[in-house]
Amino acid sequence: MIEISNLTMSLSSAGRSVKILDEINLHVPEKELLAIVGPSGSGKSTLLGLMAGLDRPSSGSIVFDGTSLSDLTEDELAMLRRQKIGMVFQSFHLIPTMTAIENVQVPLELQGRQDASEEAKRLMTAVGLEARCGHYPVQLSGGEQQRVAVARAYAGSPALLLADEPTGNLDSKNGTLVIDLLLNLHRDLGNTFILVTHDMNLASRADRVITLRDGRIVEEQSKP
Ligand SMILES: Nc1ncnc2c1ncn2[C@@H]1O[C@H](COP(=O)(O)OP(=O)(O)O)[C@@H](O)[C@H]1O
Ligand SMILES: [Mg+2]
Repeated sequence: MIEISNLTMSLSSAGRSVKILDEINLHVPEKELLAIVGPSGSGKSTLLGLMAGLDRPSSGSIVFDGTSLSDLTEDELAMLRRQKIGMVFQSFHLIPTMTAIENVQVPLELQGRQDASEEAKRLMTAVGLEARCGHYPVQLSGGEQQRVAVARAYAGSPALLLADEPTGNLDSKNGTLVIDLLLNLHRDLGNTFILVTHDMNLASRADRVITLRDGRIVEEQSKP
Protein backbone atom coordinates (compact mmCIF):
# COMPACT_ATOMS: atom_id res chain seq x y z
CA MET A 1 0.00 0.00 0.00
CA ILE A 2 2.76 2.45 1.00
CA GLU A 3 6.44 2.14 0.22
CA ILE A 4 8.71 4.78 1.73
CA SER A 5 12.34 4.85 0.60
CA ASN A 6 15.22 6.93 1.94
CA LEU A 7 12.84 9.66 3.01
CA THR A 8 14.51 12.76 4.37
CA MET A 9 12.95 16.03 5.44
CA SER A 10 15.12 19.01 6.27
CA LEU A 11 14.06 22.48 7.26
CA SER A 12 16.26 25.47 7.65
CA SER A 13 16.08 27.09 11.02
CA ALA A 14 18.12 30.15 12.01
CA GLY A 15 20.15 29.81 8.83
CA ARG A 16 21.11 26.18 9.25
CA SER A 17 19.50 23.03 7.98
CA VAL A 18 17.85 20.70 10.51
CA LYS A 19 16.96 17.13 9.61
CA ILE A 20 13.48 16.35 10.85
CA LEU A 21 13.30 12.96 9.13
CA ASP A 22 16.47 11.10 8.32
CA GLU A 23 16.55 8.25 5.79
CA ILE A 24 13.22 6.65 6.67
CA ASN A 25 12.51 3.31 5.00
CA LEU A 26 9.12 1.79 5.66
CA HIS A 27 6.75 -0.58 3.93
CA VAL A 28 3.14 -0.58 5.06
CA PRO A 29 1.15 -3.49 3.62
CA GLU A 30 -2.55 -3.25 2.87
CA LYS A 31 -4.86 -3.64 5.88
CA GLU A 32 -2.09 -3.14 8.41
CA LEU A 33 -2.73 -1.29 11.66
CA LEU A 34 0.60 0.44 12.21
CA ALA A 35 1.28 2.47 15.35
CA ILE A 36 3.96 5.16 15.36
CA VAL A 37 5.27 6.18 18.77
CA GLY A 38 8.15 8.36 19.91
CA PRO A 39 8.89 11.47 21.94
CA SER A 40 7.48 14.86 21.06
CA GLY A 41 9.49 16.41 18.24
CA SER A 42 10.70 13.08 16.85
CA GLY A 43 9.03 13.68 13.46
CA LYS A 44 5.79 11.68 13.74
CA SER A 45 3.44 14.40 12.45
CA THR A 46 5.90 15.35 9.73
CA LEU A 47 5.95 11.74 8.53
CA LEU A 48 2.14 11.52 8.47
CA GLY A 49 1.93 14.83 6.59
CA LEU A 50 4.31 13.52 3.94
CA MET A 51 2.31 10.29 3.59
CA ALA A 52 -0.83 12.38 3.06
CA GLY A 53 0.97 14.43 0.42
CA LEU A 54 0.44 17.60 2.45
CA ASP A 55 4.15 18.34 2.24
CA ARG A 56 6.98 17.47 -0.13
CA PRO A 57 10.04 15.64 1.20
CA SER A 58 13.58 17.00 0.78
CA SER A 59 14.61 13.67 -0.74
CA GLY A 60 13.48 10.09 -1.02
CA SER A 61 10.16 8.75 -2.23
CA ILE A 62 6.72 7.68 -1.13
CA VAL A 63 4.82 5.31 -3.37
CA PHE A 64 1.12 5.03 -2.59
CA ASP A 65 -0.84 2.28 -4.33
CA GLY A 66 1.74 2.15 -7.10
CA THR A 67 1.88 5.93 -7.62
CA SER A 68 4.87 8.00 -6.59
CA LEU A 69 3.58 11.08 -4.76
CA SER A 70 6.38 13.18 -6.23
CA ASP A 71 4.90 12.60 -9.71
CA LEU A 72 1.61 14.23 -8.72
CA THR A 73 0.66 17.89 -8.94
CA GLU A 74 -0.93 19.63 -5.95
CA ASP A 75 -4.36 19.15 -7.54
CA GLU A 76 -3.71 15.46 -8.09
CA LEU A 77 -2.57 15.10 -4.48
CA ALA A 78 -5.75 16.80 -3.29
CA MET A 79 -7.75 14.39 -5.45
CA LEU A 80 -5.88 11.40 -4.02
CA ARG A 81 -6.58 12.58 -0.45
CA ARG A 82 -10.23 13.16 -1.26
CA GLN A 83 -10.67 9.68 -2.70
CA LYS A 84 -8.36 7.48 -0.73
CA ILE A 85 -7.22 9.05 2.55
CA GLY A 86 -9.09 9.88 5.74
CA MET A 87 -7.43 11.95 8.47
CA VAL A 88 -8.06 12.50 12.16
CA PHE A 89 -6.09 15.12 14.09
CA GLN A 90 -5.53 15.77 17.78
CA SER A 91 -7.51 19.02 17.64
CA PHE A 92 -10.56 17.77 15.67
CA HIS A 93 -10.35 20.38 12.86
CA LEU A 94 -14.10 20.56 12.22
CA ILE A 95 -15.47 23.47 10.20
CA PRO A 96 -17.08 25.67 12.87
CA THR A 97 -19.70 27.25 10.58
CA MET A 98 -21.15 23.88 9.58
CA THR A 99 -23.28 21.49 11.59
CA ALA A 100 -21.90 18.10 12.58
CA ILE A 101 -23.62 16.27 9.76
CA GLU A 102 -22.61 18.92 7.21
CA ASN A 103 -18.98 18.38 8.24
CA VAL A 104 -19.39 14.70 7.35
CA GLN A 105 -21.36 15.40 4.19
CA VAL A 106 -18.85 17.78 2.59
CA PRO A 107 -16.21 15.19 1.66
CA LEU A 108 -18.94 12.91 0.29
CA GLU A 109 -20.24 15.71 -1.90
CA LEU A 110 -16.71 16.45 -3.09
CA GLN A 111 -16.51 12.78 -4.08
CA GLY A 112 -19.63 13.35 -6.17
CA ARG A 113 -21.79 10.96 -4.18
CA GLN A 114 -25.49 11.26 -4.95
CA ASP A 115 -26.31 9.69 -1.59
CA ALA A 116 -24.10 12.10 0.41
CA SER A 117 -26.82 13.05 2.86
CA GLU A 118 -27.96 9.48 3.61
CA GLU A 119 -24.37 8.30 3.89
CA ALA A 120 -23.52 11.16 6.28
CA LYS A 121 -26.50 10.14 8.39
CA ARG A 122 -25.34 6.54 8.41
CA LEU A 123 -21.84 7.59 9.53
CA MET A 124 -23.21 9.87 12.26
CA THR A 125 -25.21 6.89 13.49
CA ALA A 126 -22.16 4.63 13.32
CA VAL A 127 -20.35 6.96 15.72
CA GLY A 128 -23.37 7.16 18.01
CA LEU A 129 -24.26 10.77 17.26
CA GLU A 130 -27.47 10.53 15.24
CA ALA A 131 -29.10 12.82 17.82
CA ARG A 132 -26.41 15.49 17.34
CA CYS A 133 -26.56 15.93 13.56
CA GLY A 134 -27.81 19.53 13.68
CA HIS A 135 -25.39 20.71 16.37
CA TYR A 136 -22.49 23.00 15.57
CA PRO A 137 -19.02 21.95 16.73
CA VAL A 138 -19.05 24.55 19.53
CA GLN A 139 -22.19 22.89 20.92
CA LEU A 140 -20.46 19.52 21.18
CA SER A 141 -18.05 18.15 23.79
CA GLY A 142 -14.47 17.35 22.76
CA GLY A 143 -15.26 13.65 22.63
CA GLU A 144 -18.30 14.27 20.44
CA GLN A 145 -16.33 16.56 18.12
CA GLN A 146 -13.71 13.89 17.66
CA ARG A 147 -16.39 11.30 16.90
CA VAL A 148 -17.72 13.63 14.18
CA ALA A 149 -14.14 13.92 12.89
CA VAL A 150 -13.93 10.10 12.82
CA ALA A 151 -17.20 9.92 10.86
CA ARG A 152 -15.84 12.51 8.43
CA ALA A 153 -12.55 10.64 8.07
CA TYR A 154 -14.45 7.48 7.17
CA ALA A 155 -16.67 9.24 4.64
CA GLY A 156 -16.17 7.44 1.34
CA SER A 157 -14.49 4.42 2.98
CA PRO A 158 -10.87 5.56 2.51
CA ALA A 159 -8.23 2.96 1.67
CA LEU A 160 -5.92 4.66 4.17
CA LEU A 161 -6.71 6.25 7.50
CA LEU A 162 -4.13 8.50 9.16
CA ALA A 163 -4.67 9.53 12.77
CA ASP A 164 -2.31 11.89 14.61
CA GLU A 165 -2.72 11.53 18.39
CA PRO A 166 -6.51 11.34 18.03
CA THR A 167 -7.01 11.02 21.80
CA GLY A 168 -4.41 13.62 22.78
CA ASN A 169 -7.01 16.23 23.74
CA LEU A 170 -9.52 13.85 25.34
CA ASP A 171 -10.01 12.49 28.85
CA SER A 172 -9.51 8.77 29.25
CA LYS A 173 -13.20 7.85 28.97
CA ASN A 174 -13.70 9.75 25.71
CA GLY A 175 -10.31 8.64 24.48
CA THR A 176 -11.33 5.02 24.91
CA LEU A 177 -14.59 5.65 23.07
CA VAL A 178 -12.82 7.25 20.11
CA ILE A 179 -10.20 4.52 19.96
CA ASP A 180 -12.81 1.77 20.04
CA LEU A 181 -14.64 3.51 17.20
CA LEU A 182 -11.47 3.85 15.13
CA LEU A 183 -10.49 0.23 15.70
CA ASN A 184 -14.00 -1.06 14.92
CA LEU A 185 -14.31 0.98 11.72
CA HIS A 186 -10.84 -0.16 10.66
CA ARG A 187 -11.77 -3.78 11.29
CA ASP A 188 -15.12 -3.51 9.49
CA LEU A 189 -13.69 -1.76 6.44
CA GLY A 190 -10.40 -3.67 6.33
CA ASN A 191 -8.43 -0.59 5.31
CA THR A 192 -4.89 0.44 6.21
CA PHE A 193 -4.62 2.44 9.43
CA ILE A 194 -1.58 4.42 10.55
CA LEU A 195 -1.91 5.77 14.05
CA VAL A 196 0.41 8.14 15.91
CA THR A 197 -0.08 7.76 19.63
CA HIS A 198 1.56 8.22 23.02
CA ASP A 199 -0.64 5.54 24.52
CA MET A 200 1.41 2.34 24.77
CA ASN A 201 -1.67 0.39 25.75
CA LEU A 202 -3.25 1.38 22.47
CA ALA A 203 -0.06 0.85 20.49
CA SER A 204 0.06 -2.70 21.80
CA ARG A 205 -3.20 -3.39 19.95
CA ALA A 206 -1.55 -2.58 16.60
CA ASP A 207 -0.14 -5.17 14.20
CA ARG A 208 3.20 -3.39 14.37
CA VAL A 209 4.73 -0.54 16.34
CA ILE A 210 7.59 1.60 15.13
CA THR A 211 9.42 4.07 17.34
CA LEU A 212 10.79 7.32 15.96
CA ARG A 213 13.57 9.23 17.64
CA ASP A 214 15.26 12.30 16.19
CA GLY A 215 13.71 11.57 12.80
CA ARG A 216 14.85 7.96 12.58
CA ILE A 217 13.12 4.63 13.10
CA VAL A 218 14.97 3.24 16.11
CA GLU A 219 12.77 0.29 16.98
CA GLU A 220 10.22 -1.94 15.30
CA GLN A 221 8.03 -4.50 16.97
CA SER A 222 5.46 -6.79 15.39
CA LYS A 223 2.65 -8.48 17.22
CA PRO A 224 3.74 -11.97 18.18
N1 LIG B 1 7.27 24.07 9.89
C1 LIG B 1 8.28 23.80 10.72
N2 LIG B 1 9.33 24.64 10.81
C2 LIG B 1 10.36 24.38 11.63
N3 LIG B 1 10.45 23.28 12.39
C3 LIG B 1 9.45 22.39 12.33
C4 LIG B 1 8.32 22.61 11.50
N4 LIG B 1 7.49 21.55 11.65
C5 LIG B 1 8.09 20.73 12.53
N5 LIG B 1 9.27 21.24 12.95
C6 LIG B 1 10.22 20.60 13.86
O1 LIG B 1 10.41 19.28 13.40
C7 LIG B 1 10.54 18.38 14.48
C8 LIG B 1 9.52 17.28 14.33
O2 LIG B 1 8.22 17.80 14.45
P1 LIG B 1 6.92 16.88 14.45
O3 LIG B 1 6.90 16.08 13.20
O4 LIG B 1 5.76 17.78 14.70
O5 LIG B 1 7.19 15.91 15.68
P2 LIG B 1 6.16 15.04 16.54
O6 LIG B 1 4.87 14.96 15.82
O7 LIG B 1 6.85 13.72 16.69
O8 LIG B 1 6.03 15.73 17.87
C9 LIG B 1 10.37 19.20 15.73
O9 LIG B 1 11.65 19.49 16.23
C10 LIG B 1 9.67 20.44 15.26
O10 LIG B 1 10.00 21.52 16.07
MG1 LIG C 1 3.00 15.53 16.37
